[in-house]
Amino acid sequence: MRVLGIETSCDETGIAIYDEQQGLMAHELYSQVKLHADYGGVVPELASRDHVRKIIPLIQKAIQDANIDVSSIDGVAFTQGPGLVGALLVGSSVGRSLAYAWNVPAVGVHHMEGHLLAPMLEDEPPAFPFVALLVSGGHTMLVEVKGIGQYQILGESVDDAAGEAFDKTAKLLGLDYPGGPMLARLAEKGDPTRFHFPRPMTDRPGLDFSFSGLKTFAANTIRSEASDEQTQADVACAFEQAVVDTLVIKCRRALEQTGLKRLVIAGGVSANKTLRSKLESALAKMNGTVHYPRLEFCTDNGAMIAYAGLQRLKSGERSELSAKAQPRWPL
Ligand code: KG4
Ligand code: ZN
Repeated sequence: MRVLGIETSCDETGIAIYDEQQGLMAHELYSQVKLHADYGGVVPELASRDHVRKIIPLIQKAIQDANIDVSSIDGVAFTQGPGLVGALLVGSSVGRSLAYAWNVPAVGVHHMEGHLLAPMLEDEPPAFPFVALLVSGGHTMLVEVKGIGQYQILGESVDDAAGEAFDKTAKLLGLDYPGGPMLARLAEKGDPTRFHFPRPMTDRPGLDFSFSGLKTFAANTIRSEASDEQTQADVACAFEQAVVDTLVIKCRRALEQTGLKRLVIAGGVSANKTLRSKLESALAKMNGTVHYPRLEFCTDNGAMIAYAGLQRLKSGERSELSAKAQPRWPL
């Protein structure tokens, strides 16, 4: 089976072709980051219009790069939600139309399922079951994964997502959007001993997260200190350490609770180097393993949607021609 995958849930147009035998045959990504940078965040209407401009040329390019005939495509997978409604509608309309024209099935994929399965695109994919930490701009959740479609949410954020907290704190530090990766770079120059930020909700049982207080803590620290470059780096460092430590504590707890030894991390924040290295040492101590996607598949991409869609199509799942975008959609 060979599937065309389409991702347009936010500010990245991702297109890919995944083949059951040959693996990933092509993947294209267009990021709108520059378009939204002046506004300090994603402007939904601009995002939709840019997806409209880019989606067809990217699909053509993917087919060209894979060097295949369109008649060899057996199905189309598109991100159905969650995300920005206008952006989702571009991908779902194009995906369903192509499937109709090519007379192949279409399937709507949950964006977070795409992230969760992204490590499956690597050479040594994790075996089921595992615990997944999904950390993106819109979500922070711990999921027990027994197989495709067998997901049990163990905990999630009660307020800001981890990526959102990174972006908001970066904004307080005067960094451009999207601030997460820039804050991480600034943190490398920081002194980890100067400030100590709290590790929210770690002093009580449970696997939920709360990150909005850390942003306020950062704002108060910035206000009460001199605004020199070193202080900015020290705040970035203290913030990153607090988020990472909190995530590590909860991952360890989730593994102990489920008795599992494999941890998958995915979503934009899984690109964070400090998070990766701290999780690796924590899991090594537990005789466990950490799996994550290659850097380019940590953030939004079409490859994860093509892969997840292929699994869904193989199990017989189909989306109606009338399938709508689902901006809010629990996993
Ligand atoms: O998964 P993603 O591309 O989009 C969503 O589905 O939300 O995640 C984007 C998020 C942004 O908040 C971005 O700042 C964050 O991931 N991010 C990072 C890093 N790279 C991306 N946060 C911390 N450290 C990074 N290296
Ligand atoms: Zn995402």
